[in-house]
Amino acid sequence: MATGANRGTPGAQPLADTDAVVLVGGQGTRLRPLTLSTAKPMLPTAGVPFLAHLLSRIRAAGLNHVVLGTSYRAETFQEYFGDGSRFGIEIDYVVEETPLGTGGAIRNVADRLRGSTAMIFNGDILSGVDLGALWRTHREAAADVTLHLVRVPDPRRFGSVPTDLFGRVTAFVEKSDDPPTDQINAGCYVFERSVLEAIPAGRVVSVERETFPGLLAAGAHLHGYVDASYWLDLGTPAAFVRGSADLVQGLAPTAALPGAVGVALTLPGAVVHPESVVEGGSTIGPGAVVGEGARVDGSVLLDGAEIAPGAQVVRSVVGREAVIGAGAVVTDAVIGDGVRVGARCELIGGIRVWPQVRIPDGSVRFSADV
Ligand code: GDD
Ligand code: MG
Repeated sequence: MATGANRGTPGAQPLADTDAVVLVGGQGTRLRPLTLSTAKPMLPTAGVPFLAHLLSRIRAAGLNHVVLGTSYRAETFQEYFGDGSRFGIEIDYVVEETPLGTGGAIRNVADRLRGSTAMIFNGDILSGVDLGALWRTHREAAADVTLHLVRVPDPRRFGSVPTDLFGRVTAFVEKSDDPPTDQINAGCYVFERSVLEAIPAGRVVSVERETFPGLLAAGAHLHGYVDASYWLDLGTPAAFVRGSADLVQGLAPTAALPGAVGVALTLPGAVVHPESVVEGGSTIGPGAVVGEGARVDGSVLLDGAEIAPGAQVVRSVVGREAVIGAGAVVTDAVIGDGVRVGARCELIGGIRVWPQVRIPDGSVRFSADV
């Protein structure tokens, strides 16, 4: 199932004495309504829950013990991933009754760690970072914490992390209007266990707003590992559809794609009319239907979604059992489960439609009616 280009480093040695921790407790508010029923890391992305792609990268790096820090919709992770053996790893679950924040969640898994080092992952990042190189950098620098950093065009939505000539972190500024650098926290850290255990237990802690600035103020050695590999935070609808399309087309690394890399991924039980166009890395979910003359480009159709003849769906997510009527246009949109978009409607520009809504034929238009 894996493609050569997407596989981890051949012959990767296990990263000694190191556990993986994945933070998956966030509510995914920016992805509502998709995340009303499903936790963000469980959203089908290129045919499988997003987390399956991340876990495939963790496994390829030679990390075989993974602790999931869950809270929102906690049970759904265990239902799908079980003890991890189906995925070639061992998974432990730690549930927060109320969310403890990123730092609190990291502290909360301390008693499940087996090694002296932990590699922590934000659960919504699609990345091609060389985890072995990140880990070696941490060891060579003898750092307390090493952070994966990337450069982005607009750093305001992220943690801005300047480093000195030697790669040592000099500040950590979470989400500000005036970030000191375009070099940002990419959401993957190597922590010495002793540093992790020093985070206060049993209360809400933000690793970005409290732990990192506090460590810097106390003179701890935080190191940066900067690279230019593929990187995307799937937290917004636009990023979510792009990440899914990049996985399908082999632009983003994974060893969990349930099919061959190509212009589209059509899952078993989907029915695509031969006179339709499905492209741009679209995923056609199980039981979904694409009718004659329809076009689906760069989009995700969830299970049982139906695209009627002549409809167009571009860079959008169409929820389970939702129906897009004949000739309708859906662009840059999130259509919730069970929605019915009437024939000839036009839904564009970031619109998000809540589950089960019925939109009558021709009742939402954007272009001139001639
Ligand atoms: N267990 C647990 N408990 N997990 C949590 C909690 C919590 O209370 N809060 C958030 N998480 C998880 C989310 O599920 C997600 O996987 C990860 O922590 C990061 O949360 P986001 O809500 O996605 O944060 P963000 O994208 O706004 O910002 C973070 O990521 C950026 C990179 O994408 C920060 O770490 C930024 O500094 C960083 O640049
Ligand atoms: Mg995020």
